[in-house]
Amino acid sequence: MPISSRIREAIHNSSWIRRMFEEGAELKARLGADQVFDFTLGNPDLEPPPRFMEELAEAARDQRPGLHAYMPNAGLLPTRQALAGFLSRVHDLEFKPHDLILTCGASGGLNVILKALLDPGDEVVILAPYFPEYLFYADNHGGVGRIVETDEHFLPDLDRLVAALTPRTRAVIINSPNNPTGQIYDAATLQELGRFLTHHAGRHGRPVYLVADEPYRHLVYDGAEIPSVFAAYPNTLLATSFSKDLSIPGERLGYVAVSPRATGRGELEGALVLANRILGFVNAPALMQRVVAALTDVSLDITPYARRRELFSEVLTEAGYKFLKPRGAFYLFPEAPGGDDLSFVERLKEENILAVPGRGFGRAGYFRLAFCVSEPVIAAAAPGFARARQKAEG
Ligand SMILES: Cc1ncc(COP(=O)(O)O)c(C=O)c1O
Repeated sequence: MPISSRIREAIHNSSWIRRMFEEGAELKARLGADQVFDFTLGNPDLEPPPRFMEELAEAARDQRPGLHAYMPNAGLLPTRQALAGFLSRVHDLEFKPHDLILTCGASGGLNVILKALLDPGDEVVILAPYFPEYLFYADNHGGVGRIVETDEHFLPDLDRLVAALTPRTRAVIINSPNNPTGQIYDAATLQELGRFLTHHAGRHGRPVYLVADEPYRHLVYDGAEIPSVFAAYPNTLLATSFSKDLSIPGERLGYVAVSPRATGRGELEGALVLANRILGFVNAPALMQRVVAALTDVSLDITPYARRRELFSEVLTEAGYKFLKPRGAFYLFPEAPGGDDLSFVERLKEENILAVPGRGFGRAGYFRLAFCVSEPVIAAAAPGFARARQKAEG
């Protein structure tokens, strides 16, 4: 056997998103790309803002020596200073540059956090529906994912969450705005969660960290506000990125921020820096760090996403689907007509529509649609959505 049994198992269980994407590629090769309505991948299709392009061009022209060399594993000081200032303004707390570690996206950041926190067998609470990679990330570092269902609105069910805490609980990952549901958690829910975690940690004499994965923080609609996770609980770590904000997911830049109020702040920050190094990231991409230093207050014009969200909601409502209108991110997560997400996704495929079954996110009976596609594609898929629902429900 050329590969490890764990990886073989991981490949086997691996993402429905990829599986659907691959089936979609086959369908496109057969029918032509313009005949297939592909809503599987959350890959931002908008171009980065003009300010990003200007800063990038300027950074590329900079001829000073050493700009492409290794650097401290935590990242470039001016970028960390800029981000510390930005976070201090947004969260009304004083962040210092040493509270920030530049990472290879939020994904890199989550791995760095879990590497720093987990002993073998430690538990990581994950709320379903979830971003499927969380389970791999916990496993990467000897952790065990403990899945907790959210309520019917995809909001944290605190009774269930508290019942899932054990003396081995080390971290709780939350993701708001949420992939795949588009839900946003309000301040009162976060405060209450914080109170429960404080109580639990006190009882077991060991900190439990709240890990907020927030790459969609700036993709919100109808003026929705994202409350500060740092205000809710002292032992909070933020993992985020510029992937969606600046529409640069391929450039792999994000960061981890440690709450200035966190227990063991200094030791924790040292651990995160070492984890960034020994996981083989070494440091986040240098050029991108220089580019974003001037862009902490810049984010993408999300008008196209907002328009697609309206259009898609109209298309699905008219076709008779049940769903919650997303408040953020760029996904819809409707109920699968007929109840079985796998067979419904197959029905959609008969209409050349590609979607991901909800069980890939830990919630069967639903399916995910990413609106990283243009309005004409959404509009053209409308008759297929209507036919698929009629066939499924008779
Ligand atoms: C919930 C969630 N977390 C993290 C990520 C990873 O993003 P990044 O490109 O910042 O690594 C994604 C990407 O789709 C995501 O949806």
